[in-house]
Amino acid sequence: MTSIEINEVTNVSSKAEMTAGASGFANTVGDAATPLLELKEICKRYGQIDVLTNVSFTVNKAEVIGLLGDNGAGKSTLVKTISGVVQPDQGELVWDGKPVQFNSREVSANYGVETIFQDSALVDSMSIARNIFMGREIRNRFGFMDLRQMREIAAEVLKTIVAIEGIDSPDKLVGSLSGGQKQAVAIARAVHFKRSLLVLDEPTSALAVRATEALFDYLRHLRDQGLSSILVTHDLYDAYRICDRFVVMSRGRTILKAAKSETSIEELTEKVSRG
Ligand SMILES: Nc1ncnc2c1ncn2[C@@H]1O[C@H](COP(=O)(O)OP(=O)(O)OP(=O)(O)O)[C@@H](O)[C@H]1O
Ligand SMILES: [Mg+2]
Repeated sequence: MTSIEINEVTNVSSKAEMTAGASGFANTVGDAATPLLELKEICKRYGQIDVLTNVSFTVNKAEVIGLLGDNGAGKSTLVKTISGVVQPDQGELVWDGKPVQFNSREVSANYGVETIFQDSALVDSMSIARNIFMGREIRNRFGFMDLRQMREIAAEVLKTIVAIEGIDSPDKLVGSLSGGQKQAVAIARAVHFKRSLLVLDEPTSALAVRATEALFDYLRHLRDQGLSSILVTHDLYDAYRICDRFVVMSRGRTILKAAKSETSIEELTEKVSRG
């Protein structure tokens, strides 16, 4: 995988090199006590609707945050804000102690945010391997795509990281996959290009039990390396198993922020369902 990491670094801005480091990992980001990401009073309005109102919370280094809430609570909008797809009307993002503006997905990616969107954008008419490397293709020294290398890495990622049920070849067209398998390809892509913060918007809703377990093992592995994740899920039992802290949203506001030791599945269920 070394060549990939080198390829990555040549593509990113000097800022990202500072934050992501030569290996693409976040271990070089600031000191461990400075939060990785702080959201401060984030507001977003669509027309007459306040979709996010004064949303503030912190993502520390080496932790998994569960972002919970009922349908329409604003979770995906917040995920898009963190990944630079949506710009807040008010409020501030602070990355590793410094205010930042994530004006596009590229900018957030350069800081080290990797996102799996709820409606993940894959191209049906392309292979799994091409989808994993979409927009970040490996090229040889003549500038041509190195399809062989991308296939090899994709095969490895599929085998070792996400162990997707029923996917045996990186050459399979994504259009021929089930919803859950597509989701797993999106996860494989995010996992391969992992940086400091992995944001997953309902990744397990269509995943088989084994693939969910593999993903959770992976999130634990990232945490052990000092990296952080935000997991959006409707499955509170899943959330409770894997997350260190919880942020519950209701109608665009945070209604509970608690460490795992300070709350229970019962309380989370009550907050999510009653709002
Ligand atoms: N681009 C948009 N334009 C107008 N309204 C939007 C837009 N995106 C989201 N909304 C509205 O914002 C609210 C929050 O939506 P969002 O997708 O963030 O919720 P969610 O918590 O992710 O819900 P779910 O659990 O169903 O995925 C909803 O009322 C939705 O209709
Ligand atoms: Mg959503």
